[in-house]
Amino acid sequence: MTTSLAPRVFSGVQPTGNLHLGNYLGAVSRFVPLQESFECIFCVVDMHAITVWQEPKELFHNTREVAAAFIAAGIDPKRHIVFNQSQVQAHAELAWIFNCVARLGWLNRMTQFKEKAGKDRENASVGLYAYPNLMAADILAYRATHVPVGEDQKQHLELTRDIAQKFNNDYAEEIAAAGYANGFFPMTEPLIAGPATRVMSLRDGTKKMSKSDPSDLSRINLTDDADTIAKKIRKAKTDPEPLPTEAKGLEGRPEAANLAGIYAALSGTDVEAVLKEFGSAQFSGFKQALIDLAVEKLSPITGEMKRLMDDPTHIDAILSDGADRARALAEPIMRDVRKIVGFVGRAG
Ligand code: TYM
Repeated sequence: MTTSLAPRVFSGVQPTGNLHLGNYLGAVSRFVPLQESFECIFCVVDMHAITVWQEPKELFHNTREVAAAFIAAGIDPKRHIVFNQSQVQAHAELAWIFNCVARLGWLNRMTQFKEKAGKDRENASVGLYAYPNLMAADILAYRATHVPVGEDQKQHLELTRDIAQKFNNDYAEEIAAAGYANGFFPMTEPLIAGPATRVMSLRDGTKKMSKSDPSDLSRINLTDDADTIAKKIRKAKTDPEPLPTEAKGLEGRPEAANLAGIYAALSGTDVEAVLKEFGSAQFSGFKQALIDLAVEKLSPITGEMKRLMDDPTHIDAILSDGADRARALAEPIMRDVRKIVGFVGRAG
């Protein structure tokens, strides 16, 4: 047996409310074409969500809403797997093993923990600190080879590779004895590409568009109706200059660069093509075109999400079926992990 694995995609989205255009363009919309060439696993990571306080009723609702967004965006839960993390115990079990593989020094370098914990670090949950180990477990419990994410997850994916590498080294003898010639866990490839890997706030082009921004005007939510989308784009911060005709003219103009990137991602082109069309035009005209495009692309998704949310039993059935299939993929991998680590019992 070797570790030349069939390509397998894994990605996750937290059910923490306010799913926004950044999540859609940086991640969910990019999941859709991968279904043609990969076996895909898309996970609503509810265990990650509780690393900061979640009202249980809202977590319940938001978990279904992320699943609805996956499906409304075009993910096929019959051909691929859609489920919520807490239904598959392998994630928690492997995360514990990775807590014992990853080094404190590695986690101390994680910028997202520093941002999320803020000044009151002593009061952050232990889960928030160990969060990247759970993320590595999500991916490696399926020995996934490719992970599509936005730019902000890059450091976590580097850590995932470090953990895989250290596990492969620490247990090299046992891994070889179990019949694996090239290490047990793969060196997962991040898939971070396209014009919208980092969508910025509509109110401040130097800040990432985020679920937790107190200003709702800073983001377009996937639940926003056409009027709200139009209002938010109209109010989006810009500078007084018209759009440049070439990408290098966007340097030092974060708001203009952000809107051009959003347009490019929504229309499936690149920033150069957008500037060719709108360069030297005033922002008002460009903004109207962006409103029309955003409404055209997002309204069908919002409508389909609403329709799906009206039938929660159907969503829950999809999540349970996905969890059963995810468990079936993870369980043989976990049996080998237990044997490799030296746990007596269920190794089988
Ligand atoms: P989360 O829930 O914060 O975000 C979900 C996805 O959306 C991307 N994203 C963005 N992309 C572009 N511009 C933005 N402004 C923007 N904001 C968010 C994120 O990069 C992500 O791809 N830790 C992950 C969830 C996770 C995961 C995993 C991902 C848990 N386990 C395993 C991949 C593989 C997170 O918090 O994403």
